[in-house]
Amino acid sequence: MYKKEMRKCFRLAQKGAGKTSPNPLVGCVVLNKYGKEISNGYHHKYGENHAERDALLKLSPKQTQGGTIVVNLEPCNHYGKTPPCSDLIIEYGIKRVVIANRDPNPKAAGGIEKLKQNNIEVIEGVLEEEGKFLNRIFFKNIKEKKTYIVLKTASTLDGKIAAANGDSKWITSSNARNLARKFRQEFDSILTTAATVIADNPQMLHHKKIILDRNCKLNFSENIFNTGEKIYLVNSLKNRYSKELPDNVEITYISETGNGLNLSELFEKTYEKGIMSIFIEAGSKLNGEIIKQDLADEIIQFTAPKILNDNIGISCFNGDTANYISQTKNFKLVELKQVLPDYYARFIK
Ligand SMILES: NC(=O)c1ccc[n+]([C@@H]2O[C@H](COP(=O)([O-])OP(=O)(O)OC[C@H]3O[C@@H](n4cnc5c(N)ncnc54)[C@H](OP(=O)(O)O)[C@@H]3O)[C@@H](O)[C@H]2O)c1
Repeated sequence: MYKKEMRKCFRLAQKGAGKTSPNPLVGCVVLNKYGKEISNGYHHKYGENHAERDALLKLSPKQTQGGTIVVNLEPCNHYGKTPPCSDLIIEYGIKRVVIANRDPNPKAAGGIEKLKQNNIEVIEGVLEEEGKFLNRIFFKNIKEKKTYIVLKTASTLDGKIAAANGDSKWITSSNARNLARKFRQEFDSILTTAATVIADNPQMLHHKKIILDRNCKLNFSENIFNTGEKIYLVNSLKNRYSKELPDNVEITYISETGNGLNLSELFEKTYEKGIMSIFIEAGSKLNGEIIKQDLADEIIQFTAPKILNDNIGISCFNGDTANYISQTKNFKLVELKQVLPDYYARFIK
């Protein structure tokens, strides 16, 4: 029951992707006492109304008496940027609340208890797994206090991201590249490396960018510095830039391990800076290291129906030596779609 309405909540919630961080994605559908949909809404942007408020304020309490609210996350019970949604639901005379997931944030929880104390029926767990997937960034942030990490690659059928000499333009079609640019905006920051910036000189449009540049190879004339409100250059204390930093550039110092910069330390720092999710677009060495250290929560792999057919071409992942297939790092396929002439697949841990 209420699965159709919950799916609609997920679709509405997704419209806020990339704009609600550090808040979750939430959609809401309001039914009158006869079960007919009379309003809907979603959390558009951080600091703006929660989904329940967005949907209910389009109506008067007279219209909603005895009605039902379907919402993918437990209504909040705290004063944050807006007052508690539980109070508004009570005020609007709603008699039933249907949710997919409880709110894991201790600050916001308690909504269900408050509703029940006010004789409102609460149905929990409708499409619970899908709800968890929709808010996978939020759930990781709250439960583990860590940044959610996504790796994006674009390769040939034989898993190559560039030819042996570094030539990589273009493996996938403009359709696929445009979709990848759209995905980028759903995450708080992108991350790349000086090696990729020097090889490809990409723009990588995003308001927040992180670039690993341990040896201070960049000189700020590269295209990536032309846009972006904040660019973090990640470095160890050993090296310094001789040039003055542009206004939008800040250095983040982290320690080094034998394999380069300490990536776990980096992702702790990004969380402290309020960066809740990162979309990595880099080459095989960084991708390989991320996989080796089990730091990727998700992989989005674009594939072109092309075969380079050369074993020394650069692979998506180059992190470790492995002698046995049992040493593979395993992921779960959750999405597979055509972006003709290419396709992409999404995997989670
Ligand atoms: N098709 C695609 O999806 C795609 C996307 C991006 C790039 N590319 C291609 O990939 C190629 C570049 O790949 P790449 O493997 O040479 O470079 P990469 O993986 O982008 O970057 C590797 C560099 O990152 C730095 N780094 C710092 N800390 C690290 C750590 N902990 N682990 C790993 N690296 C760390 C290293 O610099 P230091 O040595 O200074 O420490 C290293 O040289 C280019 O040809 C580019 O065209 C393809």
